[in-house]
Amino acid sequence: MPAAGAGRRMGADIPKQYLQIHGKAVIDWTLETLLSHEDIETVTVALSSQDEYWPDTQSAADHRIQTVAGGRERCHSVLNALEALSQENDENDWVLVHDAARPCVRPEDISRLVQQASAHGGGVLGVPVHDTMKRTDTQGRILETVERDRLWHAFTPQMFPLGKLHDSLQAALAAGIAVTDEASAMEWAGCQPLMVEGASSNIKITRPADLLLAEFYLSL
Ligand code: CTP
Ligand code: MG
Repeated sequence: MPAAGAGRRMGADIPKQYLQIHGKAVIDWTLETLLSHEDIETVTVALSSQDEYWPDTQSAADHRIQTVAGGRERCHSVLNALEALSQENDENDWVLVHDAARPCVRPEDISRLVQQASAHGGGVLGVPVHDTMKRTDTQGRILETVERDRLWHAFTPQMFPLGKLHDSLQAALAAGIAVTDEASAMEWAGCQPLMVEGASSNIKITRPADLLLAEFYLSL
């Protein structure tokens, strides 16, 4: 679980994963959902070296959780966690990478991802694009309407075999590829991960309005 971001776009005085929703930190909501799932055994959380909030979370005392140092970008945080996992696990073990900032992920979507991705060699949760999509020039003038058929928003969790994901991510970063999610590293390595449709409520808390939306989804 990458959780080493600063939350700049949120603009709060603490990193967004530590903001409270209904009296519980965002990261505690996320970890609770993952660790109550029957298919998930342990979680490795990547934390910033400047993090001073983790020890105060309810999750900090949970011995199914280990923490590692985060990195400069999300992909470096994920790679650090995969490195730690590789020490103690088989390369064929499955790993799910999930953003700390997505506390609304549904257990049944995790189950569907686990079922479908494990049968396919890897996959990611996402939702189909519903709006009309446009590409613009740098001035914001529309150049074209992008065919929205088969276009998806890619969310997390993203699920792959540990060894393959570790090696692909490491190689993609060494090759200077911009890796914004795990699937892009796997695609770069020649794999075709499966897109698994999940709920659109699995938002990434990014800006202040997202926090209100997450608060609503978590009250359902
Ligand atoms: N993340 C991380 N290490 C980084 C950057 C981000 O582990 N160096 C984590 C974040 O904590 C978050 C997830 O990756 O759980 C998704 O990233 P994002 O939404 O971009 O979070 P931030 O980087 O914190 O936000 P911002 O980009 O607005 O600063
Ligand atoms: Mg970021």
